[in-house]
Parts: sequence; C-alpha cells; structure tokens
Amino acid sequence: MNPQDHPNDENSDVGDATAERVRIFDTTLRDGEQAPGFSMDRRAKLRMAHALEGLGVDIIEAGFPSASPDDFGSVAEIARVLRGPTVCGLARCHDNDIAACGRALQAARHSRIHLFLSTSPLHREHKLGMSKQQVIDAACAAIERARGLCHEVEFSAEDALRTERDFLVEVFSAAAAAGATTLNAPDTVGYTTPTEIADLFTYLRRHVRGADQVIFSTHCHDDLGMAVANSLAAVGAGARQVECTINGIGERAGNASMEEVVMALRVRRPYFGVQTGIETRRLYPTSRLLTQLTGQSVARNKAVVGENAFAHESGIHQHGMLKHRGTYEIMRPQDVGMGETRLVLGKHSGRHALRQRLQSMGHEVDEAAMDSVFARFKALADKKREIHDEDLEAIALGLDPEAIGPWRLVQLNTNSHMGGSASASVKLAHDNGHEIGEAAIGDGPVDAVLRAIERATGTTLDVTQFQVRAVSEGGDAQGQAQLTARHAERDWRGNGVSTDIIEATAHAALAIVNRIERRAPATPPAAVARL
Ligand code: KIV
Ligand code: ZN
Repeated sequence: MNPQDHPNDENSDVGDATAERVRIFDTTLRDGEQAPGFSMDRRAKLRMAHALEGLGVDIIEAGFPSASPDDFGSVAEIARVLRGPTVCGLARCHDNDIAACGRALQAARHSRIHLFLSTSPLHREHKLGMSKQQVIDAACAAIERARGLCHEVEFSAEDALRTERDFLVEVFSAAAAAGATTLNAPDTVGYTTPTEIADLFTYLRRHVRGADQVIFSTHCHDDLGMAVANSLAAVGAGARQVECTINGIGERAGNASMEEVVMALRVRRPYFGVQTGIETRRLYPTSRLLTQLTGQSVARNKAVVGENAFAHESGIHQHGMLKHRGTYEIMRPQDVGMGETRLVLGKHSGRHALRQRLQSMGHEVDEAAMDSVFARFKALADKKREIHDEDLEAIALGLDPEAIGPWRLVQLNTNSHMGGSASASVKLAHDNGHEIGEAAIGDGPVDAVLRAIERATGTTLDVTQFQVRAVSEGGDAQGQAQLTARHAERDWRGNGVSTDIIEATAHAALAIVNRIERRAPATPPAAVARL
C-alpha cells in the first residue's frame, strides 16, 4: 500500500505547547505482575523496566518491596539503573513497609513511595476494623514518615469509588496537608462508570483543600470492561496522572491498558486537549516483549496491539483502504510501531486486493488471466482460513497450492535429558520412492528435529518464529506448531498438528521444505539409510 496522508496526522504527540501533560504511571511490574500467570523473575523485570523507560513513561511502579526479598531486590536494582523515569515502590501505611520501600529506593535518581489505605465503608469495617478518624490518622502518619525517605509521596485511597464522597474529601485534604503530592482515587474493584468517575473527579477538584497543589490520579480495574473508558473520563474531569499497564494486565480482569489510553489521548487530541510523553512507536514492541517474558499472548482482536488491529479482510474495506487508508483506519500501524497495514487475503477479499498483493510480489496478471486466478483464489479461500503469499505464488505460477509432499514423515525418535543436549532421528519418504534417515543433536528436542530434517532434505531453515498452541482440550489435546523460517532471502511458513508437539514441529518444518522444493525442485536425494 502506498503511504497516504492520514486524516489524524495532525495529532502527533510531539511539540504541542498548548496541550496539558498527563503523566503515565506504569504499574505493569506491580499490579500487573501480581496477577496469576504474569509473574516475572528479576531479570525479566529489569528488561521490562528498560523497555518502559524507552517508552517514555513518567513513573514506573517497580514493585512492593516488603512483599518478598525478591521484590525488594527488583525494586532496588531498577532504582539503581534507571535514570529517566521516577521509580516508585508500593507500601502499606505500616512502619516496616515504609522503611523497606525507602531502602529499596535509596539509589534512585528520582523516587516515590506510593502509600495505600482503604477508605470505603466495606473495607473499613470488614478488612481494617478501623474508624474514619483512625484511617485519616494512619494515612497522615505514614505520609509524614515516608516524606523523609524519598523525593515524593503518593497516597491512594483504596476502593475510593465506593467511599463516601465527603469522607474521601476529608482523607485527601488531610493527605495533602501531610505532604502527599499525588492523590490517587482507585476504582479497586472495577465498579464505576465513565459518568460517575468524571463526576467524582470534578467534585474532588472542587472540594479537596489544597487541590491546586496536587496531581489527581486515576487507577481503574477492568472487571466490567470499562477501565480505559473510566480512565479517559477521569482525565476529561481533570485527572493528570493515569495508572495503567502494558496489555492491560493486572488483578482479576486487569488494569487500564496503557496502549489504549495513550492512543485514545493521541488520536482524539482535539477532544481531550492533553498529551502524554509516550513514544507511541515503542508501544507494540513493548507489548510484544511482555508477552515473551510472561508467555501470555494478547487476543488477536485486542485494541492497538492485537494481530488484527490493522488487518482488513473484507473486500469492501480493502477496496476503501486502497483508495484512502482513512476510510477504515483511525491511526497508522507505524504510529504504534507495528509495521504496515495488512490486507489479509481470505474468502471475504476482492479482486482489487488480490491484484495489488500479486503486483507487490512481482506477478503482473493480465485481465484475461485474472478471472481464473481469482476463481482459484476464492476456491482455496473457501477451504483455508487465511491465504499466505506462498499460496498466492503457487496460484500465480499455475501450481497447486494444496499439493502435499514430496516429503513425508515416516518415523521420528527423540531423546532429551534435563540440563543436557537432545538428539533426534527422522526417517522421511520422498515422492520419488526414496527413503532417507538422518540423526542430529541440538539444544533441545525441537532444535534436534529441525537439524535432522535439514540434513535429510538438504534444505537449510533459519527459524525466525516458532509457536506452539493447543487446538483442542484435555490430556490428549492436539498441539499446533507454527513455524516461520528464512530460506533464500524469503520467509516461509508451515503448520503441523499432532498430539505430540515435537511431531507437530516436524510436520511444520516439512511443510516448509515441501513448499520450497515444489517451487524449485531439488535433485532427488540418493537413498541413504543411516538410522
Ligand atoms: O487497585 C488498587 O486499589 C491498587 C492500590 C494499591 C492503588 O492497586
Ligand atoms: Zn490496582
């Protein structure tokens, strides 16, 4: 697709002196990391912290130092190495927590202690067993203690959205007087709505004593799927710090997703009239890094960073996109660091998109031939969910895109030991009637199988992506291996399915070798049996 002017290009984040700044407070390493399935070791946290610094976040909540020695160590290390953002640690309003947080943050260039205490009637009665006055006194004492141990103090009124408004005003007024410079009103249980939270922030800004000396902050959970909408509504009502996480990870249904908040503020800049300091082109790489570090991928249709966020399959949309990208895109994939818009060819696609893709691959198809190419494409698209460039190439060259072989897997054995290398042997049959056996060792069973297949077929595969996922449930679940490999300066994809994931990988590798060989038939191998 040729680059075209985008209707929202004027919404660039850079250099708008009139727009007020909203601080981005990232809590991926604290609220995000404490959710089941998202824990990270110290090295992973450090990598993530560097990525967040590169993204330009204002504050990184690096952990909860008194939660464990490991959390303490991670916060201390992040505080020592990051020079850009403010490094923040979480603490309850307890002496020990505050002291540990202060020690962990000692080496930070700029440090913040984030104190929290519940304020809602439900929490006061059932969790804390404290009166309103006791809550105010504990919060103020903690703030005063923390002030001497860091550069700035944030106070969070946990479960603020279910707290009596007048009491919240009292707590925040006392916290500001005690020296807190950021006042956070978290929707701890994801209960509020955009109108309600906007109303609350308007009320707080009007009634909290010393409101003009502090930053009001929003921290929304996604239990009812409104965390981003609620955060944006709070910004609309004057919040100037948004607490959020990459990919929206966090307790239960998660926190507000940073990429969604940031892009909403950017794409709708004239509406919100504020800007962040985020380098939006780092959003997608940072999201990918988190999925790699935690092993938890995002939904394909996830806003801003999902695989489908800039993909179009319907013929009507593709036609519109080819005329002007603004017809169906409100932001550019490049703006979030995602590369190009993808016109995905499938059964809903039309001739325009097919011709355009073939041209970009170097195949000029004249009008007469186009009818039959399009008919073959549609017939294949009815059977396959997605059509790849290899399929299109086969159609354009008059080859059969559904052909299988020439190689088939006849036998596979692997052997691996914990902490040691692995070995694999394969026996393959070729359509020319020959059988060949090969063995190889590798860093693990997958590597060993790939090496053995390379040796048997004589085709080198430089694997660039490898993914395994379950395609059915239960102990006998089928695993699908998806492999992308580079060969002769091109990317080739192959899939394999089996109850054994190593066998699925072998099928995926052979699917690639077969495609390569069908495209440029190799000299048939001699019959060798080395098994
Ligand atoms: O959700 C919440 O209330 C929190 C606080 C610790 C800020 O995460
Ligand atoms: Zn939270």
